[in-house]
This record gives sequence, C-alpha cells and structure tokens, in this order.
Amino acid sequence: MTTDELEQRLAQQPVALLHRLARGRIHRHFRAGKRRLIELLLQHSSHNRAGLESDLQALLEARHARSEPGEHRLHSPPPDTRKKAPQQPPLPATIESAVSLASWLEGIGVPAPQPFVPDPWQTEALSAVSETDVVISVPTGSGKTYVAVEAARRAMEDNRTVIYTSPLKALSNTKYTEFSRLFGSDKVGILTGDRQENGQAPLLIMTTEILRNLLYDAASGEIDIRLDTLGLVILDESQYLADPERGVVWEETIIFCPSQAKLLLLSASIGNPQDIADWLTSIRPTACRLVRHSKRTVPLRAGYLHPNGKLTPLFRSLGIPYGHPAQLHPEAKRLFLEYEEETLPSGRSRR
Ligand SMILES: Nc1ncnc2c1ncn2[C@@H]1O[C@H](COP(=O)(O)OP(=O)(O)OP(=O)(O)O)[C@@H](O)[C@H]1O
Ligand SMILES: [Mg+2]
Repeated sequence: MTTDELEQRLAQQPVALLHRLARGRIHRHFRAGKRRLIELLLQHSSHNRAGLESDLQALLEARHARSEPGEHRLHSPPPDTRKKAPQQPPLPATIESAVSLASWLEGIGVPAPQPFVPDPWQTEALSAVSETDVVISVPTGSGKTYVAVEAARRAMEDNRTVIYTSPLKALSNTKYTEFSRLFGSDKVGILTGDRQENGQAPLLIMTTEILRNLLYDAASGEIDIRLDTLGLVILDESQYLADPERGVVWEETIIFCPSQAKLLLLSASIGNPQDIADWLTSIRPTACRLVRHSKRTVPLRAGYLHPNGKLTPLFRSLGIPYGHPAQLHPEAKRLFLEYEEETLPSGRSRR
C-alpha cells in the first residue's frame, strides 16, 4: 500500500478507530483531532508500516464481524443489498498471511495416551550400544532418556555397573529421583559435590567432573569404585565437549574411560557429531556408531512475550523462517517498538 493509499484509507475511518490504532503508538493521541491523528499515524508508520497496516486490517475485520450475524460467516454470505462502500485497495498478501495468535497456540496440550512404541533410531541405538560406543545426536525432546534407561537396565541385568553423568548438580538430582522411581531406590546412588548417597548402587549418577576425578584416581591406582565391573557410561548433554572451560573434563573422561565399558554420548546440539564419533573410533577399542536425525518430534514455535504480559507469535508463519528475520509478525514488531519507546532514554532515535 502506498502512503497516499494508506492516508486515504485512514481518512475513511471514524476517529474512534484511529484512536484505537494510535494506542501504544502515539503519545497522548487523545488530544489530537482527526487530521493530526492521521499525520501522526503516518509519521509513526515510517518505522513500522506493516504493523500499522495489519492492525488497521484487524480492526476493520473485527468491526465487520460485529456488524454481521454469526451464521452468515459460516455459510456463503447472502447477497449484499447495502450501498457499496468505495473499493478498498487490497492489502499485500504477506500482511494478510500473518498467523493469528489462536492458530499459533492451536494443538498445544497433553496428547491422548497411546501405547509406547520405540522409534527406529531408539531401537538402533539400543542394539548398537550393547556392542560398541554410541553417539546419539537427535533434536531435543526426541526421547534420548528412553535409550539411556533401557541401556542401563540391560547392563544391570547383565550384572554390570552403570554411570550416568550430567553437567549440572540440579540435573543429576532430577535424574536421581527419576531413576530411583524407575529402578528402585536401592539400585541407584548419587555422587555430586553436595551429595553422596548409596555409592555402592549398580547405577550411579554423578556430575561429569566427579567421574573424571574418579577415573584420575583409578589411573593412579586409588580405585574407590568398582570400575572393573563398569559396563556402561552415559554422558548426557555431551555437547559440553565443546565448552571452552569445561570441555576438557568430557575429553579426559572419554580418554580415561575403561575399555570394557561402553560409552553412550547423548546430545541435541552437537554440530559435528561425525567428527566426535570418528575421534572415539580412533582412541577406543571398537568403532563408534553414530545415530542421528534432525526431525523434530515436537515442532518449535517462536513467540514474543512482552513485559506487559501480551503474547504474540514472533514470526508471520507458524514455523520458524530460519535465515529470514524480515518475517517478523507485525504485532511483535509493534510490541518491540512500544517497548523501545518506553525503555530507551528520551532523545535516542529508534531504528
Ligand atoms: N518413541 C516414543 N514415542 C512417543 N513418545 C516418546 C518416545 N520416546 C520418548 N518419548 C517421550 O518424549 C518426551 C521427551 O523425551 P526425553 O526427555 O527423553 O527427550 P530428550 O531427547 O532427552 O530431550 P532433551 O534434549 O530435552 O534432553 C518424554 O515425555 C518421553 O516419554
Ligand atoms: Mg534429555
């Protein structure tokens, strides 16, 4: 829409609608008369034209919906006998296609219960880890825990000890509770800087630093854990290998891991999992298997929550338009600007 068309369209609206459009955009808009209001709206729209156009369209649609009986919207509309309004220029397709908040939220909730069927990659990883080291690189929420739990169960049934490590004490505590519920509290222990419980259990949860220190001690002959029966070491969140400060801990843990134990590395965010698998193959006795896929079981939705509590889709589309930041939702743009206006020191210009 050109500026002239927008101006013409604004001029056709009642002043109350213009005030609604000006809310959050123009300071003290209620003091301005219609002509001045249109001027201010046009000035403002040089920052966020799409936001203004889409809000205008939304207000017009809401007004139109109120003026027609509901059932007419469900069926084909009756012939319009009213005097035809002057033809409006169509809005650009991109503006009309911005997803609504309702459709963006649609489908969120607890799914109906279904029988559990492992995904093919889970079955593949489980059968591989009984033979060799495995690196799993799959998106978040895919079900890596299932593989960890089943692999641990099988190793314990085989009278092997299992160590599960996580990078955080909080995550270790959560896993301790979760695994104690699954396997029974006598089967699970925890060793972190803050907590040492049931250290003789066949399944031990610890931070990766603690395991690294145990392996150091073992290397110097001070074995205080049954490393000879160790069958499986699970390194959750193994993307920490790339951490500039803590990565060395994961590296040393892998290097010092006893050769008879299988390593299971879990991550949703390793950029180069093949390199990691190749490195494991080069330093460990058996060829490491890489299990990877990139399909998200739970699709991501990007939203923007304004500090005033207003929620809006972040992008025009339901999915995330990677590499296309220009696809921001008009309402999100408007809220950004509003926030900037409220928080930037006065005198600083907006971009
Ligand atoms: N094969 C499956 N079919 C259906 N649901 C599954 C399947 N496997 C796991 N789930 C469920 O998926 C959810 C997420 O699983 P989980 O926490 O293991 O994900 P994750 O891969 O470890 O994610 P993150 O990267 O966030 O740690 C859980 O509720 C789990 O019960
Ligand atoms: Mg997980």
